[in-house]
Amino acid sequence: MSAPTTDILSPDNATTADGPLMAVVSGSSGSPPFFQDESLTLWNRDCREMWHELAGAPAILLDPPFDKWDCVPWWPNATKVCFTNWQNRAAVEAKFGVPRCEIIWHFRDGRWVSHEMPRITHEAILIYGPTGSAYVGEVNEDMTPKKKGRGCVGRDKMPERIYVPRERKALNSVLEYPRNVSGALGCWGKPVKLMTDILAWVGAPLVADAYAGSCSAALAARTLGIKIIACEIDKQTCESAARRLAQIEIAI
Ligand SMILES: C[S@@+](CC[C@H](N)C(=O)[O-])C[C@H]1O[C@@H](n2cnc3c(N)ncnc32)[C@H](O)[C@@H]1O
Repeated sequence: MSAPTTDILSPDNATTADGPLMAVVSGSSGSPPFFQDESLTLWNRDCREMWHELAGAPAILLDPPFDKWDCVPWWPNATKVCFTNWQNRAAVEAKFGVPRCEIIWHFRDGRWVSHEMPRITHEAILIYGPTGSAYVGEVNEDMTPKKKGRGCVGRDKMPERIYVPRERKALNSVLEYPRNVSGALGCWGKPVKLMTDILAWVGAPLVADAYAGSCSAALAARTLGIKIIACEIDKQTCESAARRLAQIEIAI
């Protein structure tokens, strides 16, 4: 597979008909997907070669190696979910601007980095564009309506309110899940539960996963009835992802 000659790093490049975009996009034609089932189509390809295919999905997950964020192309998908850390957040914002919202993934089993730094126990997930309802959190066991008392908006007092719980609680902006250190990708694979929360909130029926890794998003998508089109550049990683998907299928 030949490496792309030019990156699609900005919307200007991406929309120029004869510009760099045309130089890197070869599309999916010619080679079959590496893995395919009812909900997932996984390509063992550089996502930049599959730009058109992935760009057609209403939402995209971008979880590249964090130090490679400056090589990530610009994507036009309406909703973008960008995984990053404090060192590389500026590169994400340089590409897509200030996010609409941020989720912090908190893991207690943090990473030690130095004697002069706190243990790292979180990563950031920046959300761009529309999502669905945020009431995709924990199931509400107690559905009893509750009196909320008188709140105020600015200086205006509001009447007494009754809060009627919904079936699911709203998602919190800090989500705590242990790191997924057992997979073939070591600590870089995201927990399936984290991906499930995010995909349920995003609410798109089709999601592109440009840097699929161990395909945690695809596993989450299966339980939600969402379709995933995914790219993973590394063949061995594709192989272990396909094994993981097949094993869990058998277990179900
Ligand atoms: C942080 S991991 C993704 C983890 C994934 N979200 C999961 O939960 O398993 C990043 C992955 O991006 C892949 N990758 C790096 N550059 C790529 C590219 N240009 N196109 C597709 N995949 C790429 C790497 O091989 C690696 O598996």
